[in-house]
Amino acid sequence: MALHLVTGGGGFIGSNIVQELLKRGEKVRVLDNFSTGRRENLLSILSDIELIEGDIRSYHTVLDALDGVDYIYHQAALPSVPRSISDPITSNDVNISGTLNLLDVARRSKTIKRIVFASSSSVYGDAPEPKKVETLPPRPLSPYAVNKLCDEYYFLVFYKLYGLETVVIRYFNVFGGNQDPNSPYSAVIPKFIRLMKRGESPTIYGDGSTSRDFTYVQNVVWANLAAATAPNVAGEVINVACGESYSLNDLVQGINAALQTNIRPIYTDFRKGDIKHSLADISKAQRLLGYQVFIPFREGLQLTVQEMLNRKDV
Ligand SMILES: NC(=O)c1ccc[n+]([C@@H]2O[C@H](COP(=O)([O-])OP(=O)(O)OC[C@H]3O[C@@H](n4cnc5c(N)ncnc54)[C@H](O)[C@@H]3O)[C@@H](O)[C@H]2O)c1
Repeated sequence: MALHLVTGGGGFIGSNIVQELLKRGEKVRVLDNFSTGRRENLLSILSDIELIEGDIRSYHTVLDALDGVDYIYHQAALPSVPRSISDPITSNDVNISGTLNLLDVARRSKTIKRIVFASSSSVYGDAPEPKKVETLPPRPLSPYAVNKLCDEYYFLVFYKLYGLETVVIRYFNVFGGNQDPNSPYSAVIPKFIRLMKRGESPTIYGDGSTSRDFTYVQNVVWANLAAATAPNVAGEVINVACGESYSLNDLVQGINAALQTNIRPIYTDFRKGDIKHSLADISKAQRLLGYQVFIPFREGLQLTVQEMLNRKDV
């Protein structure tokens, strides 16, 4: 049986990948330092996985973590654009140096078959094209986006130089259960659900027409597992999203519907530097990974609200 390593497996997306791998009967190891992840995400499956608590920046930790591993899903990172703007040095250290450390150990491994990397739609920045296709020139607007873009180049170069099979997946605004609603850097969906569950109004920057290709996490999980074994994808960069965009007003309306409330948002000035619209072209994922949107936005939002209603910390 193959051994799968999920870096950042204690985080939101990582823990969902871990759960799916376990469901499929696979052997799973997690490497996480829980800097932004939550131990609760792994509580119910702790006895089914091997957990290495440590930092991707440590050579010896990564060496141990990669021992005997066949597939890696590299999710560990300091996410969030605003976090990288307030502390670009630490973001660079974790997101670039940590990733390079992982790649350098991986290239010497005799067992690793492929590494799948969690990149981000933020690399497109303010590209004016309405649909973001992988061939567009990157236009990063934040240290976080620069981190992810630099990582993408490392993944490509390690494939070309050392033959280490790598696949880069660009996520677009992923949401779902296990996402942290309580951090100052929390994403918009868990943040809005938490507020609206308490009867409070969420604040929208701008008039609410800002739109995103919100992607329920299970779609991203399936894409990761497909990317680990699909033929002819090594060295590729692939968007994974729903290929549909929804506005912040749609989002508030959807949460109201799921909560059976009628809470009105507060509108304030559009934030400088924010990207107005983000929408993915997902045809490459469909072609190379056989990807399809298993759970669309509205259904995913319903599921997420239900999951958040059951959590004590929300
Ligand atoms: N959530 C999204 O919408 C989204 C969009 C684009 C890309 N991504 C990327 O997907 C990945 C997962 O994101 P997420 O939303 O699950 O975030 P998350 O914060 O829940 O998960 C990141 C995990 O990495 C761990 N980690 C951080 N620094 C580490 C270190 N130095 N050593 C070991 N572990 C470390 C954290 O503790 C956490 O468990 C990240 O790489 C993120 O940049 C996420």
